[in-house]
Amino acid sequence: MDFRHQVTGRDALGNASVDALLLVLVGETIDSALDPAVARVVQDAVDSGDLALKKGKAIYLHRPAGLKAGRLAVAVAADASAKGVKAAAAQALGLVKQGGARQLGVAVAGATLDASHAEALVSAGSEAAYLYRHTKPSAPPAPPFRSLTIFCGKGEAKAVQQGIRRGIAIAAGVELAREYANRPANHCTPSVLAAQVKKLGKAYDLKVDVLDRAAVEKLGMGAFLAVAQGSDEPLRFIVARYDGGPKGAAPVVLVGKGITFDTGGISIKPAAEMDEMKFDMGGAASVLGTLRAVAELKPAVNMVGIIAACENMPSGRAVKPGDVVTTLSGQTVEILNTDAEGRLILCDALTYAERFGPAVVVDIATLTGACVVALGHHHSGLFTADDAVAARLLESSRKAIDPCWRMPLDEEYDEALKSNFADMGNVGPRAAGAITAAMFLRRFTKAYPWAHLDVAGTAWRSGAAKGATGRPVGLLTHFVLDHAR
Ligand code: BES
Ligand code: MN
Ligand code: ZN
Repeated sequence: MDFRHQVTGRDALGNASVDALLLVLVGETIDSALDPAVARVVQDAVDSGDLALKKGKAIYLHRPAGLKAGRLAVAVAADASAKGVKAAAAQALGLVKQGGARQLGVAVAGATLDASHAEALVSAGSEAAYLYRHTKPSAPPAPPFRSLTIFCGKGEAKAVQQGIRRGIAIAAGVELAREYANRPANHCTPSVLAAQVKKLGKAYDLKVDVLDRAAVEKLGMGAFLAVAQGSDEPLRFIVARYDGGPKGAAPVVLVGKGITFDTGGISIKPAAEMDEMKFDMGGAASVLGTLRAVAELKPAVNMVGIIAACENMPSGRAVKPGDVVTTLSGQTVEILNTDAEGRLILCDALTYAERFGPAVVVDIATLTGACVVALGHHHSGLFTADDAVAARLLESSRKAIDPCWRMPLDEEYDEALKSNFADMGNVGPRAAGAITAAMFLRRFTKAYPWAHLDVAGTAWRSGAAKGATGRPVGLLTHFVLDHAR
């Protein structure tokens, strides 16, 4: 899908030549500056009781009288924020999605557009156009959308253009993350992930290193190896560098959990919904997507993406409850529950990250069911003891409309990890499971500022709309961009 802008005032929308005009109304009145033909059609819908000028309301009109556009979708936004406008635009897109409109135009009445609005509109358009087909050739054709033109005033054009550029790059990253997270575990193995990062590296001139089992053994990543040893599918440890900043400048390091399938191992999971554990590489997918978005936008920053990828399987060679392993850091871990595998692969990746002398490290993981219980599917969990890093991530999250919520990480929670047989256990009691998981990771991150994002509730949707969301690519991309400033 193409995204562009066009200087066309709100007063000239009747003449806009698109297949479908998406009109977002901000406020509960019809903007007096709106094109008279468009205003007449909307007023008529209101008068006849078919549209209420209340947030969340919308209407679709075919061949609206006096408009050049063959279709009109009107949606009322909660407010003039990028978030409010995005939600209304997504609703309007939903109304034209099943139809034949190829060239779309979107206008917002009652608000002045800035870059954040444009970025949000591109993101809404791209999200509506995505359709998973890789293993479903019979899927209905994707919406026929070819282009989305943002209509704006002359004074808005420059900001809108900037927002579109950022929006396109982020949307492509989100789409890439969604696509790989959606692919089933037999199609998206650790080796496939590695090949995809290599391909990205070729396209964008990133330095990519892929470590196999022998290399990981040589390094001494005992925890990562323990998780991978139950599977016949070979592990991959993937490192990609984007060098856009000054030579030697400390990089932002992103570390993704890449469990391409999580059975739980010997501490096996129940059968119900186990298929969703193909999404357990959502953190890794978000690193992949962010690499793409950042490489496209070329900010003056150095960034490293690390993905630890393997399957968590039960077998005659699988790690057993009670086994003790030595991590890359030298600390020993008693693996009390083989289903708490994410922290085991991440702890070695986090120690590995030290070699880059990071300015900051953020790990992203579908880490705990407890985080879903705590925050549901709206906010990702943000864990860090560093207030400055927390503030920056919360700000990026707000800008990207990719919400996260800070959780506590007090020293007191560390108690839970005590073991009689190793430096720590890999699980604590049930209480505060998302926090104790973060406390476990914290023990491996003493060398740099660090934050952990638990995306167990936000990386994918369950139920009828089952599928990956591409979160938190938006949040991470903004975080990396803002680091450049
Ligand atoms: N990948 C899961 C976390 C998960 C569960 C994400 C459900 C989304 C939905 C993780 O590896 C896991 O199994 N965590 C365990 C930890 C427990 C054994 C301490 C969990 O959350 O049950
Ligand atoms: Mn698990
Ligand atoms: Zn897992």
